[in-house]
Amino acid sequence: MPDTATKPAIQFQGVGKRFGDNVVLDGLDFSVAAGDRVTLIGPSGSGKTTILRLLMTLEEANDGLILVDGVPYTHEMRGGKRVAIPEKRRSLVRRRVGMVFQQFNLFPNMSVLENIIEAPIHVLGVPKAEAIAKAEDLLEKVGLADKRDARCTQLSGGQQQRVAIARALAMEPEILLLDEVTSALDPELVADVLAVLRNIAETTDITMLIVTHEMQFAREVSNRVLMFDGGKIIEEAHPEEIFTSPKHERTQEFLRAVL
Ligand SMILES: Nc1ncnc2c1ncn2[C@@H]1O[C@H](COP(=O)(O)OP(=O)(O)OP(=O)(O)O)[C@@H](O)[C@H]1O
Ligand SMILES: [Mg+2]
Repeated sequence: MPDTATKPAIQFQGVGKRFGDNVVLDGLDFSVAAGDRVTLIGPSGSGKTTILRLLMTLEEANDGLILVDGVPYTHEMRGGKRVAIPEKRRSLVRRRVGMVFQQFNLFPNMSVLENIIEAPIHVLGVPKAEAIAKAEDLLEKVGLADKRDARCTQLSGGQQQRVAIARALAMEPEILLLDEVTSALDPELVADVLAVLRNIAETTDITMLIVTHEMQFAREVSNRVLMFDGGKIIEEAHPEEIFTSPKHERTQEFLRAVL
């Protein structure tokens, strides 16, 4: 058994990712400790979403290794060679990772409750009654207990996003990936979604990797900020430090533009 208590939750070791000639990640190294709340910032196209999608195995890296709890995820080194890990072993690791997307990605033909219980029942094999009880608790937590039987299409964007958060939590992830989860929302709906996420940060020890333009939220919730540019991390610091006195010129430029 790997000693998960001392292993980082996430490790990128020399990860490279290209789309054709476009080198998006270039020998990327970073790690995230269990329970950390890390915000990724960087210009559009710098690879933030790609990093999260690699962790969901929605994309595959061209080079390097990704480890979760110290366990190689999609590739491992065997006899000095980088070899792909079979789907069965990947899926065991992938279960520990949940993601909330900018565009919610709910199942439109299902009710709110059905959206939340689908994966626990069909992926984890949780008994239906147990999955429903858990989903009801989560709906309470995200402030949508009264929407249990609504169709997702009848909900506002902010409500849909809170369902998406409940759906991710229903899988009891150890790692939660949040990709600009408030960017598609009308401004008056953003606060409710951020309040739900703040509550999760305060009441759980889930490791969080957050991509957001909400710098105040990043400042409140995260304990580390990583600035990406050109496929690499160019600066990392505590949020207070990076937002008040960024060292790297690119970070200064970027923060001037977004703040
Ligand atoms: N499926 C894909 N096929 C081809 N190119 C892609 C694909 N996904 C991403 N890219 C390219 O990879 C680069 C990084 O994209 P990514 O979405 O990771 O950036 P980002 O930092 O999340 O940007 P944004 O802040 O705009 O969301 C971009 O140049 C993008 O065009
Ligand atoms: Mg993105």
